[in-house]
Amino acid sequence: MTGPSGDFLSLMRRRYACKEYDRSRAVSGDDLSFLAECARLSPSSFGLEHWHLFLCDSAGILASLASACFDQPAVATAPLVAVLACRKDPAYDPDGTFVAERGSRFPGGLSVFVDDYRGYYEYLRGEGIVNQWARAQCYIACANMMTGAASRDLDSCAIEGFSDEKVLAALSLDPQSWQTGILASFGYASPNGASRTRIRLDPSEAHTRV
Ligand SMILES: Cc1cc2nc3c(=O)[nH]c(=O)nc-3n(C[C@H](O)[C@H](O)[C@H](O)COP(=O)(O)O)c2cc1C
Repeated sequence: MTGPSGDFLSLMRRRYACKEYDRSRAVSGDDLSFLAECARLSPSSFGLEHWHLFLCDSAGILASLASACFDQPAVATAPLVAVLACRKDPAYDPDGTFVAERGSRFPGGLSVFVDDYRGYYEYLRGEGIVNQWARAQCYIACANMMTGAASRDLDSCAIEGFSDEKVLAALSLDPQSWQTGILASFGYASPNGASRTRIRLDPSEAHTRV
């Protein structure tokens, strides 16, 4: 495949889950801004941008996050860890202040937004999955950050193995109002790290056209 889609696939092939970083190689400020922009431009359900991105690269916070992630090497050796934290319900109440702030940005204004959104929120609430829905949005930003990182020859690893309570404590976030969506570590692979392996289904097994 050639052209932009071929370039995109080569980034997808470049990315892999890095389990050990060279901590002496910091992520540059320019790369940090780039990763933040990859998250910011990511889409979200109803455009609510449920998450707040924390880019953690200071020693104290990195140590707390390593402990919150059970000292996994993919966190403990990383020079940069991104935390995508998101609000908990009732922040998503159609009549609340968060939805008013985010929803009023859209064409037609807040009342048009809320008329459209209310039914979906009520459906999520009825199913008991509002907080799960909010967390799912964080994964989209995380995936875009990781593919974006590959475009700058940065290695990365998504991290789902964390204690929500400890991550929130590390960031001084109130657990009544916030939850951890997902983390991702970034940096440059350690030369001692295990070699990359890619285990994937064969294309013939991986999708069905119906
Ligand atoms: C949502 C998600 C959560 C993950 N959590 C962890 C984790 O906590 N620790 C870890 O070492 N790897 C984690 N990984 C990395 C996966 O193990 C890895 O992506 C998968 O084995 C496929 O390998 P590849 O990314 O190199 O192709 C996670 C990946 C994803 C997508």
